[in-house]
Amino acid sequence: MRTVYLNGEFVPENEANVSIFDRGFLFADGVYEVTTVVDGKLIGFEGHIQRLQRSLDELKIPHKVDRDKMLEIHKEIAERNNVTEGMIYLQITRGNPGDRDFAFPPEDTPVTMVLFTQHKNIVHAKSLETGIKVISIEDLRWGRRDIKTVQLLYPSLAKMEAKSRGADDAWMMQDGFVTEGTSNNAYIVKDGTIITRHLSNDILHGITRKSVLECARMLQMKVEERPFTIEEAYAADEAFVTSASGFANPVVEIDGKAVGTGKPGAVSEKLRGLYLEENMKAAV
Ligand code: PDD
Repeated sequence: MRTVYLNGEFVPENEANVSIFDRGFLFADGVYEVTTVVDGKLIGFEGHIQRLQRSLDELKIPHKVDRDKMLEIHKEIAERNNVTEGMIYLQITRGNPGDRDFAFPPEDTPVTMVLFTQHKNIVHAKSLETGIKVISIEDLRWGRRDIKTVQLLYPSLAKMEAKSRGADDAWMMQDGFVTEGTSNNAYIVKDGTIITRHLSNDILHGITRKSVLECARMLQMKVEERPFTIEEAYAADEAFVTSASGFANPVVEIDGKAVGTGKPGAVSEKLRGLYLEENMKAAV
């Protein structure tokens, strides 16, 4: 049984209880982060903590993240659960006002903070060798996708639609242009140029995205940050997605059409290698 963290205490998962009036439960009024652990160390920790604070600020959840304390909790929860490779999930909600009301509770209402771990093969994940298949689907999420909120119902529906059509994930589209995957950022490669949507409120500002684009520049690869259409994706030489838990994962099929050779591409493989090298050096 896992040991989880709830509001200042480490407890067995079956003893961690949250109120039915919690704003996270009733209004999806909360934010989260997923940090990857490799060799017992945290990847991209500073980026995740900074984005967490930004998400809280954008939603006006009055909570200042204590970076040092957070690091301590992350390290301890990984150790207590013997996670040498996997993920640490962290969620903060606007807390429990003791009733249901659209208006925010008083500022001094304590937030609810939860962390738990998941074991996962990340460095040698099977999907890195085989690549994944995606379908395209309309992006019906709200307009502030740059905030990492826990309202993940649409991405979850999109994922199930993909599975029902024999694929692994969905690329969401707005006005014919790809925004991102259900839980990752989307990229295509054409004639040696990496193309990925520019940062705006339309997509999550991925921590892995930032690092992978830095790696691309270190490797002297050309990068264009702009929207691309699904037709461009069909005609791409290569495609991939990035996320904390998936690094740079090749996409080998889009809407039933093979991308390039239909095999994982060289660009994502190269990027993944450098990404891992650089991020392991900086891991905490
Ligand atoms: N998802 N876009 C969306 C919509 C995401 O949910 C995620 C992350 C990303 C990639 O961000 P990052 O590189 O910082 O992980 C992009 C996490 C992993 C999840 O929901 O499990």
